[in-house]
Amino acid sequence: METIKQLSLFSEIEDINSKNSKNEIENWGTFKDSLKAPVHRWFTYPAGFSYKAVIHSIERFGITSDMVVYDPFMGSGTTNLTCKSLAISSFGVEAHPFVYKIAKAKMNWEINYQEAVIFIKKVENIFIKKLDETINQQEFSIENCFPELVIKCYSKNTIEKLYILKNILEAEGLSEPVFDFFYVVITALLRDVSSAATGWPYIAPKKLKPTSADKEVLVEFMKLSYQMLKDIKNIKQGSSENHQKSTHNLFNADSRNTEMFIKNQSVDYVFTSPPYLNNFDYSDRTRLELYFWGDAKNWKEISDNFRTKLITSATTQVLRGDSRYILLDDFRKECDEITNFIQTSAHKLAELRKIKGGKKSYDLMLIGYFNDMYKILKDVYRVLKPNTKALFVLGDSAPYGIHIPTDKLIGEIGVCIGFNNYKMEVLRQGYFILKERIKW
Ligand SMILES: C[S@@+](CC[C@H](N)C(=O)[O-])C[C@H]1O[C@@H](n2cnc3c(N)ncnc32)[C@H](O)[C@@H]1O
Repeated sequence: METIKQLSLFSEIEDINSKNSKNEIENWGTFKDSLKAPVHRWFTYPAGFSYKAVIHSIERFGITSDMVVYDPFMGSGTTNLTCKSLAISSFGVEAHPFVYKIAKAKMNWEINYQEAVIFIKKVENIFIKKLDETINQQEFSIENCFPELVIKCYSKNTIEKLYILKNILEAEGLSEPVFDFFYVVITALLRDVSSAATGWPYIAPKKLKPTSADKEVLVEFMKLSYQMLKDIKNIKQGSSENHQKSTHNLFNADSRNTEMFIKNQSVDYVFTSPPYLNNFDYSDRTRLELYFWGDAKNWKEISDNFRTKLITSATTQVLRGDSRYILLDDFRKECDEITNFIQTSAHKLAELRKIKGGKKSYDLMLIGYFNDMYKILKDVYRVLKPNTKALFVLGDSAPYGIHIPTDKLIGEIGVCIGFNNYKMEVLRQGYFILKERIKW
């Protein structure tokens, strides 16, 4: 039987000649929709699309509750959360351990409310009655507890309270789902109560943020905890009655090879937004959170434990002289014309690097990115059943002014490795997304 798997690509570029109807574009919503929706809004993360886009494409391509959807770049879980609401089973793979924890917590709607409320009251009690005592008992010097960046982002009073909150959580022996829930509550508090400009994605400890000047840790913690508990009720109410019957397998793993946990031909639809080739360092953007939770203390630890786990999409991930930045033999054999184009573009970028300030290794980043995307596409192809589709939301890019049509190249690679065709449709996302793309 002929195997037909189609690759659809949606590009996040503003294009006045877009062939998409206004209606189609509106159906996709914007990232801001997710910031207002229950549970989706728990952690601001550059998702690449709104939950409305997932609903729309699922309807458009006739995906039903007996099917399985897969997001190989799950991030904070927009695809999987939406699938759960629609009672459609899903797989999600995310390589960044902290981001995976956020997605996992968002997918757990069966947490023990009573246990959660008891914990909120316990925190309230300690903060109101025993805070000074607890601080004195701990005999800590905040300088020994957190890296400088974290300390600089808060007043002394706030960082001490955040530290106590973290300790109460870690010492309490909560059930895993309730622990995960409060892990996200405290994570969400971090940027909210900071006196520095810690808006997403950049942290500027020297810049003051007036909006959080009067924010009190306990008040915000309680407000957020109850609001998030209510979010769980709301998302359940707004979801298909059968949502409990769907299964969701989330993995903190590398989607370049999922053979160990996703079977061949077990997926009906792929919906995803990979990192773009735009020098966005996902591990660095979560630095505040990683430092706060003690997952890393410095740049090297972020590199060793996080940066190296992700596909190459930033020059900060590239080491000159590393053999990974040579086009893979199999990739060359299978996709001759495309790899020639990539190699030629890399040569141009290597020449430009010599004369440009900053000496950015865009040449190697380019090669690393496409080697990784080749592996991802092969794996996505392997897990898809015959007669299915994969949809990638992508942005193109122009490092040092050299235009790299990432969307088209990924479509072409898809065809080289077995997809029967690809189709590109242009999305017009708001300024928010565009702003993120233009950073060279
Ligand atoms: C554009 S974001 C996707 C965001 C997601 N749509 C959401 O709802 O939050 C891309 C994600 O890919 C992840 N990633 C990068 N390399 C990966 C790999 N090799 N395997 C799995 N995930 C990876 C990054 O950590 C990042 O969270």
